Amino acid sequence: MSYDTIILGAGAAGMMCAIHCGGRVLVIDHAKAAGEKIRISGGGRCNFTNMYAGPGNFLSQNPHFCKSALARYTQWDFVDLVGRHGIAWHEKTLGQLFCDGSSKQIIQMLLDEMARNGAELWVRTELKDLHKTETGFALEVDREGQRLSLTCTNLVLATGGKSIPKMGATGLAYDIARQFGLRMTETRAALVPFTFSDGKFKDLSGVSLPARLSNNRTTFNEALLFTHRGLSGPSVLQLSSYWREGETIRVNLIPDLPLFDLLRDQRQCGGRKALTTELARHLPTRLVEYLSQHIPMQGNLADQSDAALTELIAALSDWPLSPSGTEGYRTAEVTLGGIDTDDLSSKTMEARDVPGLYAIGEAVDVTGWLGGYNFQWAWSSGHAAGTAI
Ligand code: FDA
Repeated sequence: MSYDTIILGAGAAGMMCAIHCGGRVLVIDHAKAAGEKIRISGGGRCNFTNMYAGPGNFLSQNPHFCKSALARYTQWDFVDLVGRHGIAWHEKTLGQLFCDGSSKQIIQMLLDEMARNGAELWVRTELKDLHKTETGFALEVDREGQRLSLTCTNLVLATGGKSIPKMGATGLAYDIARQFGLRMTETRAALVPFTFSDGKFKDLSGVSLPARLSNNRTTFNEALLFTHRGLSGPSVLQLSSYWREGETIRVNLIPDLPLFDLLRDQRQCGGRKALTTELARHLPTRLVEYLSQHIPMQGNLADQSDAALTELIAALSDWPLSPSGTEGYRTAEVTLGGIDTDDLSSKTMEARDVPGLYAIGEAVDVTGWLGGYNFQWAWSSGHAAGTAI
């Protein structure tokens, strides 16, 4: 069987590419259904893009690479598509757009658009062999137990990254990229919780509060969640993409709280209560109990001098922590790094030295922040390759 284009991976990027490709198109996936990560994303409501998406929200060895694709298929193009399909959506926070109903609506929309473009979809299909021919590529696949030979002029790598192997993530795109001589940047789990070897936050599991997390590269001001294994929540996931083993992170537990003024006022209005009790009016009680074992907080608020309060506030606003690691690909939302963008055209996503070979989505060394940015990259890069083919 012969196709103009075969797309490996029926995820966000692969489906978007199939919608925009001309000619005879086949999308292949080893999973039992297309778009499994879309289905589970955003707690089942899919945070499908971000109103403020721009190149600054992406990590890559070449920060300029994503610009062209993002500019030519923007968040508003995707919002238009969603609107045309009558899918209701809302902004949750920080420009993050979610379906009112279910992420399955996004999958159905993509499947409908693919069908409209005449693209075929084969799920439960595994690639067994691949090599270059004079005019393109030859593939051997196993489709539900049936061995088939296929040829195509264009081959699109859209099998994503390595995060959540339980859901079928593999390094196939990386292996094929290497097979054809494309370079890879280092890959690592990102948007992932931090772990602490001594189980130090076990007793705080479930405590959540707004916090500012920093390292010497960047800062994120979002919710922080203590877990029995360590730290999670949006601010932690965000910072994890910028963290390296052995680094200390700094946690500000009171980023937007004028705590000095608040405690001074409380001190004036009596203040014969324990400092920890007064502090627990502003911070979760379990956290205050935990912190009181590590930071001096003895006595009543009334007995605290301004200098003592200043010291306390300094400790609460700059708490150094050294994660022992991350939860890894098992729970990571994305893979940082991937196919080196130096080997791809930023306009078409085509490999510079392998005509007809394209790479899109998470497989490429472009990784978004938490908040709908990774899907936007999948839509934009899928569109760039699709329209070029
Ligand atoms: P994706 O991973 O979507 O698709 C790859 C496809 O290739 C899959 O269908 C897979 O089965 C197939 N495949 C893999 N190996 C194969 C092989 N060997 N043979 C055949 N097929 C193979 N992002 C965001 O912007 N908003 C959000 O709300 C979320 N939420 C979220 C939740 C969770 C739990 C996770 C794990 C991730 C997110 N993300 C997210 C990230 C987002 O899901 C991710 O960046 C995109 O799905 C990437 O799209 P791709 O199409 O590149 O890969």
